[in-house]
Amino acid sequence: MTHILAIDQGTTSTRAIVFDADMRIKTSAQEEFPQHFPDSGWVEHDPADLWSTTVSTCKAAIEKAGLTAADIAAIGITNQRETTVVWDKTTGEPIYNAIVWQDRRTSEFCAELRAAGHDKTITAKSGLLADPYFSGTKLKWLLDNVDGARARAQAGELLFGTIDCYLIWKMTGGERHVTDATNAARTMLYDIHNGRWSQTICDLFDIPVQMLPEVLDCAADFGTAQADLLGHAIPILGVAGDQQAATVGQACFQPGMLKSTYGTGCFALLNTGETAVTSHNRLLTTIAYQLDGKVTYALEGSIFIAGAVVQWLRDGLKIIDGAPETQPLAEQADDNQNVILVPAFVGLGAPYWNAECRGAVFGLTRGTGPEEMARAALQSVGYQTRDLLEAMRADWQDGGASATLRVDGGMTASDWTMQFLSDILGAPVDRPEVLETTALGAAWLAGSRAGIYPDQAEFAKTWALERTFEPAMPDDERDVRYSAWKRAVQATIAAG
Ligand code: G3P
Repeated sequence: MTHILAIDQGTTSTRAIVFDADMRIKTSAQEEFPQHFPDSGWVEHDPADLWSTTVSTCKAAIEKAGLTAADIAAIGITNQRETTVVWDKTTGEPIYNAIVWQDRRTSEFCAELRAAGHDKTITAKSGLLADPYFSGTKLKWLLDNVDGARARAQAGELLFGTIDCYLIWKMTGGERHVTDATNAARTMLYDIHNGRWSQTICDLFDIPVQMLPEVLDCAADFGTAQADLLGHAIPILGVAGDQQAATVGQACFQPGMLKSTYGTGCFALLNTGETAVTSHNRLLTTIAYQLDGKVTYALEGSIFIAGAVVQWLRDGLKIIDGAPETQPLAEQADDNQNVILVPAFVGLGAPYWNAECRGAVFGLTRGTGPEEMARAALQSVGYQTRDLLEAMRADWQDGGASATLRVDGGMTASDWTMQFLSDILGAPVDRPEVLETTALGAAWLAGSRAGIYPDQAEFAKTWALERTFEPAMPDDERDVRYSAWKRAVQATIAAG
C-alpha cells in the first residue's frame, strides 16, 4: 500500500490522480460533466454527475496504473468550494441540484443583509463578505424554496454539505457527515476565529445547526471508502478545498508566501500565518489549512472567470476547438488594437464584488477578429490578478509579502499568458515543475497522515522551480494598459 489516490472534484470536471510513494503522478483520469444554467446568473450541477464521475475516474486511474484498490494507502479529496448540496439523511437523495459557487441567485438577499448592516457581523465571524458566492445564502435559498425543506431540516432529516462532505458521506455509505476546516471556512456559517459553526449567523439565515457537518483538520480520519466502491476499503485521510490544497501543494507554508491558481476561476492566497488579517480592500480572510488543530490563515482574492473565459472562446464564440489553440491565436493579434474584455459573466469577484454587472468588450474595430478576442481573453486574467495583488499588498504592507507569485493550474502552461502576467504585475512569476499542485496538496495531506509521505518541512523542500517569468514591459506601457483596464471595469460596473 504505497500509493495515494487524490480526487479533485472541480467546477467543470472531476479528476482522479494516482501518486506513487515518491509523490510523483503515476496516472490520472478526467471526466467533464454537464453545467446547468436554469436562469441568468444561476449555475447548477447534478450531484449524481459529481458522484458518478468521482467513482468512474477513481476506477480508471487505478486501473491505468496497473494497480488495484488494495495498493492505495489512502484517499485525499480536494474540491470546488462553496458549492452547496442538501440531501436526505436516510435515502441519500439530494433535495435539489447542487448550487454552484458561481451562482448569483441570492444577490438580492445579500443586498438586504448589507442594507441591514449584518455584513459586519458576517465578516467579523466568517472572514467573508455578504456575497452570493458562499454557501450560506445558497443553503438558505434551498430551505426557503424547496417544498417542506426547512421543516425537514428542523426535524433532523436533511444534511448540508460542500462537495467534499457529500462525497465522503457517499463513500462511507452514509457513516460520516464531516468536512475539513478550509471548506467550512467558505460557508459563511463558520466562525474562523473560534473554530465552530456560528450560531449567530445560522440564526440570521434560519439554518438549523444540526444539519451542518462535523469539522476536522485537513489531515484527519474522515472515514473509510467502502470496499464495494473500488474493490477494497480505503481510508480517507486528507481533505482541503481546492485553492487551499493548491496552497499546500505549492508549499506556501511561510507567512508572506503567495500562490495563484488558474482553473475555472483564479484564486490568489497569501499565507498570513497565525494572524487572521482583516482586509481593508475587500479581500477575504480565510483558513489556508488546519493541521494538528493549529489554524494557518490566508488572505484570499477570488476571481470568478479565468480558464472559463477560454471555455467561452471555445463553446460560446466557437473561435477555437481547444484551449491550446488560444495562445497561438493571441500571438497573431494586431498590436495596433487594444481590445479589453471584462469577463464579468457572473458579475465580478474581488476586489469589486458586484453580483449584478455582466461582461463587456471595449475597443472593438472593424478589424477585430478571433485573434484580438483571444488575446483580450488571456490578458483579462493578468489584469484581474493585478487587481488582487494590489489589494493584497495594501492589506499586508508590513507583513513582508513575497514579491514573487507561485502559479499553477491549466492556464499556466501558456508561456505567453505567464509572460503577460509578469509584465502587467511588474513582478516575477514562478512556475513550478509540478503544475498539478491542487491534487498534490490533497495527496500530501492524505499521504503524510498515512505515514508514507514526508513531514511538512521535508515536503516543502521538494518544491521545484521550472521557470521564472521576469517582467519585460516598460513601466509606462504597463501603467497605460492597467489604467485602461481599470476604466473598462468601472464602465462595466456602471452599465450594470
Ligand atoms: O471557490 C471556487 C473554487 O474552489 C473553484 O475552483 O478550480 O473549480 O475553478 P475551480
